[in-house]
Amino acid sequence: MNSHKLLEGKKGIIFGALNDASIAWKVAELCHAEGAQIVLTNAPVAARVGQTAELAEKLGAPLIYADVTKMEDLENLIQESTNALGGKLDFVLHSVGMSLNVRKKNPYTDLNYEYMHTSFDISAMSFHRLMQSLWKLDAMNEWGSILGLSYIAAQRVFPDYSEMADAKSLLESFARSFGYHFGKAKKVRVNTISQSPTKTTAGSGVGGFDAFFNYADKMSPLGNANGEDCANYCVSLFSDYTRMVTMQNLFHDGGFSFTGISSDLMESFSDEAMNK
Ligand SMILES: NC(=O)c1ccc[n+]([C@@H]2O[C@H](COP(=O)([O-])OP(=O)(O)OC[C@H]3O[C@@H](n4cnc5c(N)ncnc54)[C@H](O)[C@@H]3O)[C@@H](O)[C@H]2O)c1
Repeated sequence: MNSHKLLEGKKGIIFGALNDASIAWKVAELCHAEGAQIVLTNAPVAARVGQTAELAEKLGAPLIYADVTKMEDLENLIQESTNALGGKLDFVLHSVGMSLNVRKKNPYTDLNYEYMHTSFDISAMSFHRLMQSLWKLDAMNEWGSILGLSYIAAQRVFPDYSEMADAKSLLESFARSFGYHFGKAKKVRVNTISQSPTKTTAGSGVGGFDAFFNYADKMSPLGNANGEDCANYCVSLFSDYTRMVTMQNLFHDGGFSFTGISSDLMESFSDEAMNK
């Protein structure tokens, strides 16, 4: 890995590195290589089903489990992290998402509202809860950076993405609304990155993921952005080179979001191809 020491002297918390396919896993590795001191966190259940502890050992990073639906877990995480890192935080990555209705394959027209409540709680409200905890504990340094990960289904309909589309809309809205307050009072920026489909545990859980992935890859002039590309973008947003970027949803998708149709797809829709 070619390091530029962009995060030298910076301290941060990274949520959501479950296994080496996780976007957060790549971000953690790159933040470490770029000179940051990090704390890793994940849901307590990840201790059983994930490999977060392996990554923590490899990077020499403290691992503090926290369920993002529990305020007391987040407060404890922030307090323990600032103690372990010896000061306030410069960056936080929220890389957390889960939908029970998607997992149970419930159609969008027949969703279970208990499940929806939990999905929104884990995937969106947790972002507000995290920011409120950071705010109340005054845990962010000035010119710090808070990031969440989103998907374009927040703006356009991708039927199989189901209630996660609505969760992502809420997540992006929290970035704007809290971003205002964090910017005004503490000079901290808040953004979401809207990432290409990426082959991870959460990504692959969405029905028809291979079609999402291949369609986006053919549609995007640069092809899909992968997890390593996303880590590069996250590091740039944690670095001092992006200090005035805030309250944005930033598309990181190889050009997918602004492409009407690509030449690759045109070919498959010619009369000749359609009549084959
Ligand atoms: N993979 C994609 O195609 C894609 C595309 C755009 C955005 N995203 C977003 O990227 C983020 C990371 O997902 P990923 O694709 O790397 O998958 P992933 O499955 O590796 O990561 C999801 C993480 O959320 C954690 N999590 C779930 N419930 C939690 C809870 N209650 N408390 C704490 N942590 C909890 C999981 O343990 C896991 O580490 C998510 O917000 C996802 O929606 C993914």
